[in-house]
Amino acid sequence: MTTEQTASEQSAKDVHSFAKPAEAVAKHLDLNIDVNFEQKVLHGTASYLIENKTGTDEIVFDTRGLEIEKVYLGDAQEETGFALGDEKEFLGRPLSVKIKPDTKKVTIQYKTSPDAAALQWLNPQQTAGKKYPFLFTQSQAILARTWIPIQDSPGIRITYNAEVKVPKELLAVMSASNPVEKNASGVYTFEMKQPIPSYLMALSVGDLVFREVGTQTGIYAEPATIEAAAYEFAEMDKMLVAAEKLYGKYRWDRYDLLVLPPSFPFGGMENPRLTFVTPTVLAKDRSLTSLIAHELAHSWSGNLVTNGTWNDFWLNEGFTVYFERRIMEEIYGKDYADMLNVLGYQDLMNTLNDLGKDSQDTRLKLDLEGRDPDEGLTDIAYEKGSFFLQNIEKAVGRERFDEFLNNYFNTFAFQSTNTDKFLDFLQKELIKGDEELAKKINVDGWVYSPGLPADFKVPTSARFAKVEEAFQSWKNGTPAAQLSTKDWSSHEWLHFIRMLPEQMSQEQMADLDKAFNFTNSGNSEVLAAWFIHAIQNNYTTADEAMEQFLTNVGRRKFLVPIYKALAATPEGKKKALAIYAKARPNYHAVSTVTLDEMLK
Ligand code: BES
Ligand code: ZN
Repeated sequence: MTTEQTASEQSAKDVHSFAKPAEAVAKHLDLNIDVNFEQKVLHGTASYLIENKTGTDEIVFDTRGLEIEKVYLGDAQEETGFALGDEKEFLGRPLSVKIKPDTKKVTIQYKTSPDAAALQWLNPQQTAGKKYPFLFTQSQAILARTWIPIQDSPGIRITYNAEVKVPKELLAVMSASNPVEKNASGVYTFEMKQPIPSYLMALSVGDLVFREVGTQTGIYAEPATIEAAAYEFAEMDKMLVAAEKLYGKYRWDRYDLLVLPPSFPFGGMENPRLTFVTPTVLAKDRSLTSLIAHELAHSWSGNLVTNGTWNDFWLNEGFTVYFERRIMEEIYGKDYADMLNVLGYQDLMNTLNDLGKDSQDTRLKLDLEGRDPDEGLTDIAYEKGSFFLQNIEKAVGRERFDEFLNNYFNTFAFQSTNTDKFLDFLQKELIKGDEELAKKINVDGWVYSPGLPADFKVPTSARFAKVEEAFQSWKNGTPAAQLSTKDWSSHEWLHFIRMLPEQMSQEQMADLDKAFNFTNSGNSEVLAAWFIHAIQNNYTTADEAMEQFLTNVGRRKFLVPIYKALAATPEGKKKALAIYAKARPNYHAVSTVTLDEMLK
């Protein structure tokens, strides 16, 4: 272990973990679990190689809802004492295990609870194939502790091996080296050789097949989905090439995707070697693949150089959005990246509006003590973070900034970092006492102040200028069918729909729908944006499609604005509650936690 790692483990206090890594820290995990679909339970052992740094007599792990059966020490499997502390909201309970100064191995025998928040157990009806059940995990931010007793802090890294037993008809995959087909035993083994933080622990079990894309890339999906996925993501190899060209060698050997059933609560999750992705990006025209660029970019920003605490979340997401747009620019040109930037800016404006632009939560460096780290998951980290980096790029020029970022990723590879460390590095390697440059970069304005700095320049897009022209002419009375919308991508359509006025007549709604078939669009982004207008204008033609969407799709980013728009009127709220009652069993805990609160 390097001295930097020791220093970071000691300095960055993670208020969302009970672990005391400066005293005793886990280095390697051997996970051995049985997946029981009938009981919705994982059962087995988590065996850790540990380092007792101070000769302490306890090591502390995070748990939430786990049943701890027994704990053993060493290869001799000697039973040892343990205690579970009081339950804390969001955080769960600390598991303190009695150890000796020379203890090297701690084995915890445990069972998960059927309502473990990280796990979603799907019945066959909720899958594409409708024949077999399905399981997937979502560990970020602090849900790993609901399926593994673990030191659940992004400041701590472990390597892992796993053996997972599943029903014979199913395949298991993890954020590790993966099998490419089922075997007769139903037992699968995994290895993650590079040290990773706990939030990147991931497992999925289902009727999965594998399809190669390039030599280093491929896709796992249900048989019913693999064809569509292979078409949609055919360019993932190109993205890997572009990413390596920008910020250096990909350090995780393979890069594969796992396409999940539609209840997956996020767009994507950057589980190392195996990004988990929502099927709602299967638009049939490869128009929503910036999400893959995003998750791939996390292989550097996040997985390689990791936010040390959830207060530094912008170091993961802001860097990744910046990097994602650079990949897209590399492959599809500046005009394309500009569209993403403008949409991101619109999202950021909405977030600033919702939070209030003086809110402390609009600073890049957050203070989430006593709160669920999920509250930091806003476009501040993503978009304000990315615009901050664009601002630095503008101040020093692209060449110098890229050199700096390469240096940053290499210097902190396989380590956790935090806002202060990044800013120190920025001072030392880029600003170097240049006061004029420091003023332009304006660390204080971006990182520690709410809202946006006064000199922020609003991004523009040439392709969107054309959309705005079309919109103006529609507003001036040109029928929708006569607008020039040829070759518009998802992004142009999204921009157009977002521009539509809040109040529209039934005729206007019908005119648009007839010309562009929004209500029956196969594009999830278009649908989700259109339904907002349908709700606001009581356009009941879209009701059936909306209900269908809400019961099928579990992606929180889509669900929240739609339910929110519905809940804005008493009648709409009734409708929302009726749909939610039916749809809720299809959603992952990540989404129901948010929606329960919103709709109560
Ligand atoms: N790592 C995030 C998802 C996440 C963040 C899960 C925090 C839990 C807690 C992932 O990389 C992500 O940002 N996904 C986005 C898509 C992206 C293109 C902005 C999403 O799911 O919407
Ligand atoms: Zn991300």
